[in-house]
Amino acid sequence: MHQGKTERQEMKHPSNRELFEYWNMLRGERLAPERADIEPSAIRTILGDTFVLERDGWKDPVFRLAGVNRALEGLAIDVFTTMRDFADQMGDPILRFCEDWMLADEVTHVKMGSNWLRQLTESDADRRARALEFQRTVDSLFNFRGLRGEGEESSIKLARRFREMAGFSTEEIDEISDMAKAQRAEAMAAKAAAVSR
Ligand SMILES: [Fe+2]
Repeated sequence: MHQGKTERQEMKHPSNRELFEYWNMLRGERLAPERADIEPSAIRTILGDTFVLERDGWKDPVFRLAGVNRALEGLAIDVFTTMRDFADQMGDPILRFCEDWMLADEVTHVKMGSNWLRQLTESDADRRARALEFQRTVDSLFNFRGLRGEGEESSIKLARRFREMAGFSTEEIDEISDMAKAQRAEAMAAKAAAVSR
C-alpha cells in the first residue's frame, strides 16, 4: 500500500481511518511497522475494533490480539437470546440451533473480553473507570430508548443469565436495566405528550 490520497479517501469508517493513519505514521518508508512499534494506548479509543494477526510462512494466521467491545458484544448476546426464544415460540428447531450456536460462541469470546478488562485494569482504578464509562455510554445508545430491557414489552430482552456467564457483574446488568427502564419511561412520556398536543 502507498500512502496516497486515494487509499485514505477509500477508508470510510472513522476507526479504520484512525488505524490506517497510525499505521502509516509508524511504518514511514517501510512496508509495515514492527509489532513492537505498536503502542496499544496510542489507539485506545479504537482498540475494541482492532485485532492483530500473525502469519508465519504458509501456516494458518494466528490471532495475537483481538479487541472486544463489551457493549456491542453484550447486545449480540441479548439479540441471539431473544431470537433463540423466538425460535422456541415459533417451533423452529433449525433457527433455534443456529441462534444457540452463535450464542455459545458469543458468550465465550465476551467472557475473554471481560477477563481482560479486569486484568488489564487491576492496578489502575482510573483506567477501569474510564473503560466502564465508555461502556455505559455505548450501552445507553444500545438500549434504543427502552426497546431493549427486561420488561414484557421489550423487543430485545436483556439476557441476564448469559451476560453473567460472559462475565458481566450483577451491578453492570442492573445498571443497563435501570437505564433502559428510565429511557423507556422517557420515550413513552414524549409520545404521550405528542399525542395530547
Ligand atoms: Fe461477538
